[in-house]
Amino acid sequence: MRKSEILVGLDLGTSRVKVVVADLSERGAPEILGAGESVARGIEAGVVVNMDMASASIREAVEAAEDSADVEIGRVSISIDGEHIKGIDSRGVIAVSRSGGEITKGEVDTVLEAAKTLALPVGRAIVDVLPQEFFVDGQRGIRTPIGMSGVRLGSKVHIVTASQQAVDNVIRAVRKVGLRTDGITLRPLAASLASVSPDEKELGTLVVNLGAGTTGLVLYQAGAVRHTASIGWGASSITNDIAVGLRVPLSRAEQLKMEHGCALVSAAGDDPIEIPTVGGGPPRESSKQILAAVIEPRVGEIFELVANELKSTEYSNVVPAGVVLTGGGARLEHVAELAEQFFGTPARVGLPDRVSGSFDAVADPAYAAAVGTVVATAETSGGGRYRGEMPLAGTVQRVRQLVDRFL
Ligand SMILES: Nc1ncnc2c1ncn2[C@@H]1O[C@H](COP(=O)(O)OP(=O)(O)OP(=O)(O)O)[C@@H](O)[C@H]1O
Ligand SMILES: [Mg+2]
Repeated sequence: MRKSEILVGLDLGTSRVKVVVADLSERGAPEILGAGESVARGIEAGVVVNMDMASASIREAVEAAEDSADVEIGRVSISIDGEHIKGIDSRGVIAVSRSGGEITKGEVDTVLEAAKTLALPVGRAIVDVLPQEFFVDGQRGIRTPIGMSGVRLGSKVHIVTASQQAVDNVIRAVRKVGLRTDGITLRPLAASLASVSPDEKELGTLVVNLGAGTTGLVLYQAGAVRHTASIGWGASSITNDIAVGLRVPLSRAEQLKMEHGCALVSAAGDDPIEIPTVGGGPPRESSKQILAAVIEPRVGEIFELVANELKSTEYSNVVPAGVVLTGGGARLEHVAELAEQFFGTPARVGLPDRVSGSFDAVADPAYAAAVGTVVATAETSGGGRYRGEMPLAGTVQRVRQLVDRFL
C-alpha cells in the first residue's frame, strides 16, 4: 500500500484525542484500518490552551493508531471546533463568459470564489465553503449548473468561519509532533459525513455532536448544509452537575454517568446505586432515577441552546425530518428518546458507519468526527477516487491557504 493512499483523521477533543487510519486504495468509501486515542490535555472546548500538553496528547494517540493500523503516520486531517466557529450565508454572481455557451467547471469555481469575497473581520479564517444552490439567469434551486446555458450564474453558499488564531494553534500543535496537515473540516460537519445518509440530508436532518466541552450542530435541508454552529457546552457539564448534585468527586461523577447515566427519568427505573462518601465514610445509597433527575435537565438545557441557535436563522420554522446525535454524549442511555421529545421529530444515535473495513475499531458515536474527517479529505483530495455525496467545492484551495502560512 502506498503511503499516499493512507488517510488519517485526528479529532482533538476536549476529553480524548481520537485518531483513525483509513486506506483509500480501493474504490468506494475509505476503509478503516485502525484507531487510537489518548486522554486529552491542554485542549478546552475545542481550542488549544496548552501547546506542549496538546502536542503530547496528539503524539500518544497517533502512536496508538500507528500500532493499531500497523502503519507509519506522517500526515493527518484535522477538525476544528469551538465557540469561535461561526457559519454565515453568502452569495456570488458572475457573467457567463460566452453567451449561449455552456457553464463550465471553471465558472462554477469562480462563482463560488465570488461568494467567498465577503468582508471578514480581522482575525477570521474561512474553513469551508459549502454550496447550497446555484442560479442560472432567472432559474433558482439548481444543484449542478455545469453544462447548462445562461448569461448570469449565481451561487448561494454557507461559509464556515473560525478564529484564525484557534486554527493556527491546532496546526501548530500537530506540526510540533512532526506531522503535516492534509485537510481541515468543521468537526460537527465531519461527524455528519461519517454517519448521515444522503436521504437524511435530503429530507432535512439536524446533526448534534455532543462532545465533552462543545456541542456542534449542522442543519441539512434539501441535500445542502444550511447552518453550522458550535456551543461551548457539552457532556462534561453533566459530570459537574452529578458531582455537585450527589456530592461526589468529579472522577466518580464521570464514572457514575458512564455506568449508570440515563437521559430520561421516566425510563431510568429505580435500581439502587452506591455512592461513595467523600472522606471515606460508609457509602450512601442512591438510585438510577435520582441520577437521571440530575442528567435530564442538563441535557435538555443543551438541546435548548441548540434550538435557540437555530431560532436565530432563517430555518427557525423548519422542523427537520430527523435528529442524529454523535459524539461521546450520544452514548448516554435514552438520549435519543429525550431528543425526540424535545425536538418533536425522530432521533437516532449516529455511528460512523459510512465507511468500510474494521468498523469495530470505531463503532462508537464518539468516533464520528475522526472518521468523518477522513471522509471529508477523501472526497476532496483523494485523487477523485472517492466521490462523496456533497460537493465540497473550494475545500482543497482553502486548506492550502490555511496551511500555507506554516510552510
Ligand atoms: N457511556 C457514556 N455515557 C454517558 N456519557 C458518555 C459515555 N461515554 C462517553 N461519554 C461522555 O462523552 C464525552 C466525550 O465525548 P467526545 O469524545 O465526543 O468528546 P471530546 O471530543 O473529547 O470533546 P469535544 O468534542 O467537546 O472537544 C465525555 O463528556 C464523556 O463523559
Ligand atoms: Mg469531539
